[in-house]
Amino acid sequence: MREFESKLHRDLPPTRQWGYGGISPGPTIETRSGEPVTVEWVNSLPEKHFLPIDRNLMDCEAGRPEGRAIVHVHGAKCPPQSDGYPENWYVPGKSFTTRYPNEQDAAMLWYHDHAMGITRLNTYAGLMGLFIIRDAAEHSLNLPRGKYEIPLVICDRLFRTDGQLNYPVSAYPDAPWVDECAGDHTLVNGKLLPYLNVEPRKYRVRLLNGSNSRFYHLALSNKQSFRQIGADQGLLAAPVSLSALTIAPAERADLIIDFSSAAGTQVVLGNGFVPVMQFRVSQGKVEDRTAVPAVLRSVQRTPESSAAKTRILSLGEHHDHLGNATGMLLNGLRWHMPVTENPVLNSTEIWSLVNVTDDSHPIHLHLVRFQILDRRRFDFNLYETTRQIRYLSDPELPEPNEAGWKDVVRAHSLMVTRIIVRFEGYAGRYVWHCHNLEHEDNEMMRPYDVLPDTPRTQ
Ligand code: C2O
Ligand code: CU
Repeated sequence: MREFESKLHRDLPPTRQWGYGGISPGPTIETRSGEPVTVEWVNSLPEKHFLPIDRNLMDCEAGRPEGRAIVHVHGAKCPPQSDGYPENWYVPGKSFTTRYPNEQDAAMLWYHDHAMGITRLNTYAGLMGLFIIRDAAEHSLNLPRGKYEIPLVICDRLFRTDGQLNYPVSAYPDAPWVDECAGDHTLVNGKLLPYLNVEPRKYRVRLLNGSNSRFYHLALSNKQSFRQIGADQGLLAAPVSLSALTIAPAERADLIIDFSSAAGTQVVLGNGFVPVMQFRVSQGKVEDRTAVPAVLRSVQRTPESSAAKTRILSLGEHHDHLGNATGMLLNGLRWHMPVTENPVLNSTEIWSLVNVTDDSHPIHLHLVRFQILDRRRFDFNLYETTRQIRYLSDPELPEPNEAGWKDVVRAHSLMVTRIIVRFEGYAGRYVWHCHNLEHEDNEMMRPYDVLPDTPRTQ
């Protein structure tokens, strides 16, 4: 991890950033299911941060080192000591070695910083990269690969007139934290408004929304549809045809875009009317032997009856003495309060996320993959006064492109979003949090413990 400068656009001077291996996104780590990877993450960051630290946030008080960092591989099923616990940050000059067993299905994971109270700044500075796991089942599918498989990390940024990164601040110099960061420019694999020369054929586009808080609504300028074949934790059961894709921070979408009917044209991938990048499709015809099978993978639905426990967990706001919202909380609890979520290893639970705020929150659990059961409106006033849930609508099933294995779920405003999770892999201390990084840094994150299951007699 180190500071570097790079040109984000032909017409801009070099921009200061922080990155893994001196680039952003960092080097893509690629491995196979069951093939472990060991990484020594060396902190060579400067002592001083170049983005505005808010001293009121957890672990940010005066004297706390500013160049602290800790890496988390988002979506990895790995032991707690390698998971990047937010308090386990270390300072410039130190390094830490982690091991990822990768005993999980093919999926595009990503790694990013997770240091307590400054995750949003470190990630915004550029500390993120991709971590791709492959497996035989996926390989047998004859999907586009090699130069026809394009990973796209998109994230929004603000710039100063001198071309340097700008991070928004509040009106209070002593409390610069803001509850969201909406950039007016989009970086695609670390570049502004790039183009890619493509052939008139199918491409596999593997998209990550690496933004701090922006939700994208992506579509192609020629109005052509595309197919989504995978979500956060790997392939869907079947492809889903889409004319637009909504993707929240930290979500991944595995897409097939077929440019065969767009030969000789330029197709813009846009967020609403805002261009993100351009595909320049070459003329003529090319041979394309790849296929998108109607059945991609079997995704067994986890039956609700297998859940040993249901937890009702609120997503709420906390307020200052004037009643202004100053941050978000999970279940009304701050980070340092005792652990309340403690599932037993190899047990299944339903988590009902009760969102009493006006925002949609992308909720992420470390270690596990899960399925979305449903979303439902509820009686807000009754819940606020009695903590009882009375549903006001029928359950809405997840969108078809959310119906696979997930590790982030969009919990919509004033809805109960239910997920079903089997806690597999390792016992120990992990975290769950909102992946709006501004929220995460201001207490919308909680530790959770996976308890060892009952010892078996030999
Ligand atoms: Cu993307 Cu706690 O992580
Ligand atoms: Cu949030």
